Amino acid sequence: MEKYVIEGGSQLKGEVIISGSKNAALPIIIASLLTDNEVVLYNVPFLKDIQTTISIIEYLGKKVYWVDHSCIKIISNREPYKEKGYVIAPYELIKKMRASFLVSGALLANYNKVKAALPGGCAIGARPVDIHIKAFEQLGVDHYVDGGYEVFIKNKARVKKNVVRFRYPSVGATENIMLFASKIPQEITIVNSATEPEIVDLAEFLKKLGVKIEGAGTNIIRIVGCKKFLSSKIEHKVIPDRIETGTYIIAAGITKGELLLKQTVPQHLSYVIKKLRSSGLKIETEEDKIYIRWVKMLKPQNITTRPYPYFPTDLQAQFMALMSITKGVSKIKETVFENRFLHVSELNRMGANIVVDGNTAIVTGVEKLKGAEVMVSDLRAGAALVLAGLAAEGISKISHIYHLDRGYENLADKLTSLGAKIKRIQED
Ligand code: UD1
Repeated sequence: MEKYVIEGGSQLKGEVIISGSKNAALPIIIASLLTDNEVVLYNVPFLKDIQTTISIIEYLGKKVYWVDHSCIKIISNREPYKEKGYVIAPYELIKKMRASFLVSGALLANYNKVKAALPGGCAIGARPVDIHIKAFEQLGVDHYVDGGYEVFIKNKARVKKNVVRFRYPSVGATENIMLFASKIPQEITIVNSATEPEIVDLAEFLKKLGVKIEGAGTNIIRIVGCKKFLSSKIEHKVIPDRIETGTYIIAAGITKGELLLKQTVPQHLSYVIKKLRSSGLKIETEEDKIYIRWVKMLKPQNITTRPYPYFPTDLQAQFMALMSITKGVSKIKETVFENRFLHVSELNRMGANIVVDGNTAIVTGVEKLKGAEVMVSDLRAGAALVLAGLAAEGISKISHIYHLDRGYENLADKLTSLGAKIKRIQED
């Protein structure tokens, strides 16, 4: 099993080029299923989840080439396999990554009969897809569950409602319905849609296909799809990864370092930057750069995770690692996922003092963390443990790092270039 071995105590200094956004690239790669035209995507991060998504669209009939380390070319290769008239998104592929359920929207846009494996829960929560399904239903799709699959039958003559109202602004459901609506030639409105920057990026891509979209980035999105798309090659540059950016901002804070982050979008992290500035971290921003310098001991901060533009759940664990060595008491409330505190016990094993009370973690800052053997439960928990290891006294061994490979491009190399002592080793 591969592990990270980190010798803590180095102050990180230098420049980091931020990679393309995983969560923006995934739905855009899936959106390429909507068109037969060649699609060229730039700023695609080379990550496990991206490779998984590529294998899914290749299974469904595309051929994907890496043109260079961050550019992919997608072309149509063949029609997807059908079984008794159904195009199938098999469990083997969906189970690897929950976001693959987004293929259901793209496939339903193209075909009348689709079977998509239900994704199931994961470490951070049950993660149902009821919002996606209810919206498909309102848009005229009949469905039932059979053997772990959601079986969808599109009734073209029957878009029941042209306004769908989400009970919660789910990111995935917004993307799934945007994909589906892209081929419905009438106006579809999503009310209480997610407003994340990744939604805006997907809308920008869909507009290049010829779809009319208004309101992406707000909580009401209007889409007028088209039966036939424009016939030219589509090129798109994926937005920078705001969660990777936030992780490196926190890395500068937790190691009392000084970093310049390049090729990023500071506005996508306004709320996080505001909180970290209140804590005492010096942060300056330019159009596509963020400069961070630790100048004094930080002050504790209370945060509540909420949908964009508020504090992202995907930075909660990393922020907790920072607060764990910040003198005073911070309260961290998680409202997006019900079980996203799996990093708490691992941070406590490194000497942190964190108590969980329902959906709130009460973090009493300790003077220092001590290196320990810890285990990663999910992607962002893994980032928190790496950050904790960088700040801790002594050696930390972090196992189950495959979770980190899903979402952080060249993590060890990037950290090493900033002065961190981190090695990837093979050990049972
Ligand atoms: C996306 C991100 C993930 C991020 C999350 C919230 C991708 C690939 N992943 O995940 O990194 O943490 O947004 O910002 O972009 N829910 C339901 N029913 C549904 C759909 C969602 O109850 O039909 C619940 C979920 O269980 C969760 C909450 O709503 O508790 C948020 O989920 P959602 O916004 O859909 O997140 P994802 O798209 O899965």
